[in-house]
Amino acid sequence: MVAEREAQATRLRRAADIDPPAFWEERAGRFRRSVQRRAGQEDPIFDLVVAQVTINLTLLDVGVGMGRHVLPLSRRVEHVTAVEPSQAIRDFMAADAAEQQVANLTVAGADWQTADVAPADVVLCSHVIYNVPEVGGFVDKLAAYALQHCIIAMRTGQRDQMLRGPFQQIHGEELIPEPVLVDLYNVVHQRLGIAVNVQAMNFRRGAMPLGNYETLNEAIAALRGQLFVAEGSAGQVVYAHSCSSS
Ligand SMILES: C[S@@+](CC[C@H](N)C(=O)[O-])C[C@H]1O[C@@H](n2cnc3c(N)ncnc32)[C@H](O)[C@@H]1O
Repeated sequence: MVAEREAQATRLRRAADIDPPAFWEERAGRFRRSVQRRAGQEDPIFDLVVAQVTINLTLLDVGVGMGRHVLPLSRRVEHVTAVEPSQAIRDFMAADAAEQQVANLTVAGADWQTADVAPADVVLCSHVIYNVPEVGGFVDKLAAYALQHCIIAMRTGQRDQMLRGPFQQIHGEELIPEPVLVDLYNVVHQRLGIAVNVQAMNFRRGAMPLGNYETLNEAIAALRGQLFVAEGSAGQVVYAHSCSSS
């Protein structure tokens, strides 16, 4: 699924003469704003991890992002290790960790497949697996590094559900879906023979999709990128129209 989706993106970007974005580097500022805005709000993933940790345990967060879980959790465990391949995201997180005087954090600047870190009592991997092409090895490694529990958060539906209609209108084809929870469930069952203990929880219910953008122009530019539409092209007009009529 990941390879097909990537091939579709490459083909449509090429056709529209658009450069591929440096994915997380391009999104880092926006991602940080959305995490900052939600700071202090209810976070069911945080609650789930808190229930599994005590002060003498170690925690490993794979694809740590801005550290929205690991920074507050660092006060409740002996040591935290964060794995994060994006330099831009690591820089933001390091600044927040310093500001919050987090002293028991080790950061590995690598992707999980190649990261050289120690196993931990509890492993967390929250909203990372959508773009991993070789998911079997990724999941095997998560399991191998979790001494007690491994908690993986993944959506049940498509992140860009609201773009699927405009995408079909613009390109005349379906946006290839990204993997979601049911796909992961099957992979884990195949690889490890485990029937995963699934807990359904609300994720950003009621959040406004436009809330992560500072201006309408910033939102339009980002959506253009997600829809593979060149600035000023006919595709953008179709998209703007479908937005304003919905
Ligand atoms: C949607 S963010 C989630 C961040 C954080 N876990 C959270 O829930 O807020 C996905 C993060 O996974 C990282 N990531 C992507 N591919 C990865 C990989 N192969 N190994 C480790 N991290 C990865 C990205 O750089 C990004 O920071």
